[in-house]
Amino acid sequence: MGIRPHIVILAAGQGKRMYSDLPKVLHTVLYRPMLHYVLDLAQAIPHETISLIVGHGEEQVRAACESYSGVGFFRQEKQLGTGHAVLTTRDFLKPKGGSVLVLSGDVPLLKQNSIEALLVKHVQSKAAATVLTAQLPHPKGYGRILRDAKGQFSEIREDADCGEQERAVMEVNAGVYCFDGSVFWDALAKVTPANRQGEFYLTDVIALLRAGGGVVQTSTLNDASQMMGINDRMAAADVEGRLRGEINLEWMKKGVTLEDPEGTWIDSLSKLGRDVRIESGCRILATTLADGVVVESGSRIIASEIGTGTVIKQGSYIERSKVGTDCQVGPYAHLRPQTSLASRVKIGNFVELKKSSMGEGSKASHLSYIGDAEIGKDVNLGCGFITCNFDGGPKKHRTVIEDGAFIGSDSQMVAPVTIGRGAYVGSGSTITKNVPADALAVTRAPQQNREGYAARLRKRKTRPE
Ligand code: UD1
Ligand code: CA
Repeated sequence: MGIRPHIVILAAGQGKRMYSDLPKVLHTVLYRPMLHYVLDLAQAIPHETISLIVGHGEEQVRAACESYSGVGFFRQEKQLGTGHAVLTTRDFLKPKGGSVLVLSGDVPLLKQNSIEALLVKHVQSKAAATVLTAQLPHPKGYGRILRDAKGQFSEIREDADCGEQERAVMEVNAGVYCFDGSVFWDALAKVTPANRQGEFYLTDVIALLRAGGGVVQTSTLNDASQMMGINDRMAAADVEGRLRGEINLEWMKKGVTLEDPEGTWIDSLSKLGRDVRIESGCRILATTLADGVVVESGSRIIASEIGTGTVIKQGSYIERSKVGTDCQVGPYAHLRPQTSLASRVKIGNFVELKKSSMGEGSKASHLSYIGDAEIGKDVNLGCGFITCNFDGGPKKHRTVIEDGAFIGSDSQMVAPVTIGRGAYVGSGSTITKNVPADALAVTRAPQQNREGYAARLRKRKTRPE
């Protein structure tokens, strides 16, 4: 037995306490906008519609939600309070009837089963409103749950409006509610801004529903930390630390070794295999690490896939790339977007790749720039190899190096250019024309030796003036 609510997400506020130009809901928690966690949660819950209320920084917020489908946007022109925010969806949702689930864009740690428990309780008790609550040892800043003499939930009092006794109440409002649409919308329209902040509080609807004879009740979180809201940067750091700890713990349970769990950032989009080992100070973001991958300290891997048994050595930066099995990358390598390495490829220190592929067993062991290049199998790129891919104008050109070619150190490929299968390029060559298969290309000037020249020079210099 379940209900499919209409979900409303509040995300129009500025977040004054962040002191930021960025809308609060776009501030990141583990490298993702906090709003994304709430959208993920909304999408995971069976629902009828999802409405997102935007206002402050509307364009930015809309752009940040592009990847989410099935979300309707509602503009709250002025941020007059959470109740006023939900009102923007009234004309759309009231005719639809059903239940309304309100989520806050700044409460990113909530779990799906907590919401499901709230919905079940709401349905079973035919409530007009069910409020998610928790007991907090430090309830400051949150709305307090006030109960009557019989212990029945009666209303929510905002922190700013609390008297001394109320302030001592530790049961607080998580900012998540389920309402019965048949009574909610009319009650919401009656909310007034008669409070210390002069805002239309969504929380005031509870007392109105109760006065109208409706059942109002709470659903309590066992794990209070799920309800942490982010209002300032201290809370942001706190929430991020908790999420990071949770994620790290999950991966350790599944067979990942974290050398320094406190100093490892793995985001909620990454997937790690068995016997992965991650050293201190790494960031693994939207990335898949297959079984047995080792990531040495201080590396950052973003939106990439790393194959079984590959070692990413210290201080490497990998973005939107694919690395095959049993490769070795780094130390201090830079794989820029659209790099693709087959298996057993070796990329050594201070090598940068961009929009390039390398076939099985190929190597670029030291100090290279490889851009817009297609490198075959078993190719050896010597130290200081450079693709000159940019003509200074609008165009980037491709370099193709076929299987088994050997490129001597300090060579430049002035693209577009192709080095044929099995060809050699002599060290220090600047290649401007295609090289046929199995040929040797050398472009450096022939060497001249002048016998005794250095000795004569030294003698001249030591002669007295
Ligand atoms: C709110 C609750 C409080 C609860 C807390 C839980 C109210 C009046 N208070 O307080 O009881 O304990 O959340 O985290 O609801 N927003 C809008 N438009 C507005 C104002 C806010 O969309 O005009 C959005 C914000 O962007 C934010 C959410 O609503 O995502 C909550 O607003 P915020 O100002 O953070 O409310 P709190 O003071 O935290
Ligand atoms: Ca808040």
